[in-house]
Amino acid sequence: MKEEQLRKIKDEVLALKESPLYADRIKNKVFPVIGEGSHSPKIMFVGEAPGKNEAATGRPFCGASGKILDNLLLGIGINRSDVYITNIVKDRPPENRDPLPGEIEVYGPFLDRQIEIIQPKIIATLGRFSFGYIISKFGLGFEIIPISQAHGKVFEANTSYGTVKIVALYHPAASIYNQHLKETLAEDFKILKQLQ
Ligand code: URA
Repeated sequence: MKEEQLRKIKDEVLALKESPLYADRIKNKVFPVIGEGSHSPKIMFVGEAPGKNEAATGRPFCGASGKILDNLLLGIGINRSDVYITNIVKDRPPENRDPLPGEIEVYGPFLDRQIEIIQPKIIATLGRFSFGYIISKFGLGFEIIPISQAHGKVFEANTSYGTVKIVALYHPAASIYNQHLKETLAEDFKILKQLQ
């Protein structure tokens, strides 16, 4: 059932000619990234958009940011295969630029459906774009709190399937050249372990 519903999302994204990123996908012979992991997880991670490696393989977080994410999960003893990992934007923005509002608008409804199908108890947002999207989606404030203040905090929202906890985290890529953020991320990840 969930498999079928998720496959339908994949098919729809594959055929999404109206996306502003569709032409680049075809031209570059790359793939959209829908998501991967457990279909009945406690935790769903929501990143920003695929990077080069992700678009080449169709898998989320499989490049440099993915290595950091894998290590952070290892640090709290959670298996990658026990969580679900996806992004707001399903196609790679050129040169890894920030997603545009119009792109978030096109792909957001697919993320909404993934949340409804997978029904995670915890949504861990990676970076300011996914935090902003999820917070607005659940009506938790149009005045988006900056990620520098929100990270490490837990927000609660009501969904059609019950309460969900939203954990705001920095994007793993933010820690690549910043040791301080690496430590902050590791510290914030401990919240996920506690909430599990
Ligand atoms: N960064 C993201 O936000 N998502 C990915 O899948 C990879 C890198």
